[in-house]
Amino acid sequence: MLSSRLILSVVFTGSCVLVDAASPYVVDDYDVLQYINPLIGSSDGGNVFAGATLPYGMAKAVADTDSESNQGGFTYDGSNITGFSSMHDSGTGGSPSLGNFPLFPYASCKNDDLNGCVFPKKSRKQAYKSDSVKSSPGYFDIELVSGVRVEMTASHHTSLFRFHFPSGEESGSPLILLDLSDLSDTRQDNGSISIDRSSGRMTGNAKFLPSFGSGSYNLHFCADFSSSGWLRDSGIFVNTRASNDVHDLTISRSINGYPLPGGGFIRFQPPSDGIVNARVGVSFISSEQACSHAEAEIPNFEFEATRQNAVDKWTEKMEPIRVSREGVKSSVLTNFYSGIYRTMVNPQNYTGENPLWTSTEPYFDSFYCLWDSFRSQIPFLTIFDPNSATQMVRSLIDTQRHLGWLPDCRMSLCKGFTQGGSNADNILVDAFVKGLDDEVDWQAGYAAVQKDAEEEPFDWSSEGRGGLKSWKEVNYIPVEDFDYEGFGTMTRSISRTLEYSYNDYAIAQMARAMNKTSDAERYEKRSLAWRNLFKKDQTSFINGTDTGFKGFFQPRYYNGTWGHQDPLTCSNIDNSGSICSLQNTAGETFESSIWEYQFFVPHDMATLVKMLGGPNNFVKRLDYLHDTNITYIGNEPAFLTVFQYHYAGRPAKSTARVRTYIPDYFSPTPAGLPGNDDSGAMGSFVAMSMMGLFPNPGQSVYLITVPFFKSVNIKSPLTGKTATVHVTNWDQFNSLNNTGGTGFIKSATLNGKPYTRNWLDHDFFTEGQELVLTLSGKESSWGTAPEDRPPSLSISSSDLEARGWGVIEEESSDHIPLLHSDQRHFARHGMHFDHHARFDKKW
Ligand SMILES: *[C@@H]1O[C@H](CO)[C@@H](O)[C@H](O)[C@H]1NC(C)=O
Ligand SMILES: *[C@@H]1O[C@H](CO)[C@@H](O)[C@H](O)[C@H]1NC(C)=O
Ligand SMILES: *[C@@H]1O[C@H](CO)[C@@H](O)[C@H](O)[C@H]1NC(C)=O
Ligand SMILES: *[C@@H]1O[C@H](CO)[C@@H](O)[C@H](O)[C@H]1NC(C)=O
Ligand SMILES: *[C@@H]1O[C@H](CO)[C@@H](O)[C@H](O)[C@H]1NC(C)=O
Ligand SMILES: *[C@@H]1O[C@H](CO)[C@@H](O)[C@H](O)[C@H]1NC(C)=O
Ligand SMILES: *[C@@H]1O[C@H](CO)[C@@H](O)[C@H](O)[C@H]1NC(C)=O
Ligand SMILES: *[C@@H]1O[C@H](CO)[C@@H](O)[C@H](O)[C@H]1NC(C)=O
Repeated sequence: MLSSRLILSVVFTGSCVLVDAASPYVVDDYDVLQYINPLIGSSDGGNVFAGATLPYGMAKAVADTDSESNQGGFTYDGSNITGFSSMHDSGTGGSPSLGNFPLFPYASCKNDDLNGCVFPKKSRKQAYKSDSVKSSPGYFDIELVSGVRVEMTASHHTSLFRFHFPSGEESGSPLILLDLSDLSDTRQDNGSISIDRSSGRMTGNAKFLPSFGSGSYNLHFCADFSSSGWLRDSGIFVNTRASNDVHDLTISRSINGYPLPGGGFIRFQPPSDGIVNARVGVSFISSEQACSHAEAEIPNFEFEATRQNAVDKWTEKMEPIRVSREGVKSSVLTNFYSGIYRTMVNPQNYTGENPLWTSTEPYFDSFYCLWDSFRSQIPFLTIFDPNSATQMVRSLIDTQRHLGWLPDCRMSLCKGFTQGGSNADNILVDAFVKGLDDEVDWQAGYAAVQKDAEEEPFDWSSEGRGGLKSWKEVNYIPVEDFDYEGFGTMTRSISRTLEYSYNDYAIAQMARAMNKTSDAERYEKRSLAWRNLFKKDQTSFINGTDTGFKGFFQPRYYNGTWGHQDPLTCSNIDNSGSICSLQNTAGETFESSIWEYQFFVPHDMATLVKMLGGPNNFVKRLDYLHDTNITYIGNEPAFLTVFQYHYAGRPAKSTARVRTYIPDYFSPTPAGLPGNDDSGAMGSFVAMSMMGLFPNPGQSVYLITVPFFKSVNIKSPLTGKTATVHVTNWDQFNSLNNTGGTGFIKSATLNGKPYTRNWLDHDFFTEGQELVLTLSGKESSWGTAPEDRPPSLSISSSDLEARGWGVIEEESSDHIPLLHSDQRHFARHGMHFDHHARFDKKW
């Protein structure tokens, strides 16, 4: 494997721990796992996986429900339990993923007759005792109304279930069935199972469909059982009937479109302690591999040791971060640490489990979807778990190497659907500018992102970008484009234009750092394409009343003529029933409105601020977006808008805005998430917002807000150095009933020197810098000066003029920040801001 160390300045020391320079703000160590509640987001559409797993684990054990919102398996909403299965995704939309080969227990069959047990999923389901549910890292526990209690834990590829049956005089002969089905009932032919008569071991496999993508996948299993009761009998079931004579079953797809119920069962003589253990290994390769995983990982059904191993793994993962507990309620800590926990449930590490190609590179799956995770989840892991983030990046590059394209969404070994931009570009570049290069083949990485920018895939519903011919010709994605080279849903022309612009900017940064100068100029120029959809005189009305704002993005035909989309269509307050998803023909913005997308220019904010009328008007618009609920924090495009006040020199307003969302919209309860967690995207939003440093993803830029804690310490696993954020006069501003502080930044020091910029770069973390904040009750002038605003790829009015572009009109005389003074610094990070991008297109 090629290791191409580039120009990045960060010094890597592997994962060895360096001696920490003594910080006066060291936070006491404490057990963090007490503050992790995996049940957060397990109801009301959070769709979080609430069960037992290791960090990035493949085996994910939980009770599955029949809830309409059972994407994560278990839903804490009182719906019925259909089984206990070993594979899940977390927080996703789409149809429910995985949930394959569920087990289901009976304390005994009616009249001790096999056919007295109910086998099919639809009829066997059963309610659970609501107050019996317990969950903690690596552990889940629930009791069915039948009185059967099921505890579960997991190793990397294996689930361990401990079934407690009522024991005593009248106890019967417990039965456990294994069903050849999945959560969404997608089994294709042929499923099969074989049961070993003497040991009761069940092996087999079946083919299923991914939940938001194309293709299919095969999953294999190996289930073993242990009990103090003797093995009584075993066999198979088909539909409602079972037999202990038959031990092999191959089952066809379906009767009438619904997969025919079928599987195996095992029965025990009454165990003296009432316990039957079931160990289920899973593998995408073979049932032999599933068995060898299970035997290696949990050789003797050791429940406590397996659980302890999970606790140890999670404890180790949580080690880099500690916040001060002084003056905060435990619910604040639980909100924070549980958010961090969820960033490491997905993606899943399927290294050694990929049947699609042979490689020595890591293989990660359940990138579900990168449109969600590029915004803060993977950037958070880049700080907090860089070794894993590096493996994810290597996996993305290796996937491109073997399948031809970087994924945009990937689940269950299949391609997921693209939602807009080629978002892996943002993720690769984020890792690149932050110096992750341990065995990353960045030349291959560059080739992969460049392919996204240059070649249109035949099926751009699943990868890459559509409309590239127009993109290169007219520099925007036209509405009703004529695109015969590749195929995808011809919608989202505005959001795709904005996202492709940002993708191209990301690629430009990488090209710049690699001294690919002409590429860098090409992509910088293309990154200005968002301007071509800005219609200066476009207005926006709410209920017939002019909002007073002028200038919005609009759809545009190839010939340059404007189309029309109401800027509020598909906003959170649009009650017209419009849908802006993948398929509809009306929506030129994906899952959101023009109002919200007007802020998605993360690389060229200075120009955007100018185009929206200068800082004061920009701030008014951003306030309007939030105050009238046009945006909804339960979907990822809202994330950055919370912090974009920074670009208008109003960092205090970002701090104030964060506090309107946390904890009101993100609270540590099962119903506490405002939307799908999306594989931990929401978790990372909570974590990074609360630590007071939110990323502009794809850039070495973190926007500073007041943290919810007196101190935050983050130790870089790469350098062993500890970065600190500390509030000196915390006690004075912690009056909000200990729920996270009040006040705004009055002054700051970085490593002891006065610091007025309202942002930091990634060196803060790798070099273990120390940011000390002093608060005041009101907004101050800290971080407001033009030179204190975050960097922006900007070109001056005179440059625009020189290129025949005219000057961007401003309604305000506020000074607009242009280039940042410290060029040397950005160059080191692969960023370049004194380049005068050219752009030939009129607008
Ligand atoms: C659970 O299943 C039982 C028995 O099938 C049924 O009576 C009950 O309505 C179900 N509960 C829910 C919430 O679906
Ligand atoms: C399914 O199994 C049956 C019986 O073994 C066999 O005839 C058939 O070809 C199999 N179909 C597929 C798609 O594997
Ligand atoms: C992923 O799994 C492989 C194989 O088990 C292991 O070598 C690697 O360290 C794992 N990666 C992470 C980030 O846990
Ligand atoms: C890029 O060029 C500069 C100046 O010539 C040089 O110092 C640097 O090492 C080059 N970087 C790469 C990655 O080739
Ligand atoms: C617009 O009118 C609807 C229906 O009368 C109302 O529910 C909604 O609150 C109004 N929206 C605004 C922003 O005034
Ligand atoms: C451009 O195309 C649109 C859509 O086909 C059409 O309505 C409009 O008249 C055309 N404009 C010109 C100037 O040809
Ligand atoms: C926005 O939503 C919040 C919470 O649902 C509500 O309290 C507030 O009144 C809404 N604001 C407007 C302007 O509708
Ligand atoms: C703090 O809690 C008290 C009592 O519950 C309440 O009256 C007060 O309004 C709260 N203060 C704030 C700032 O939330």
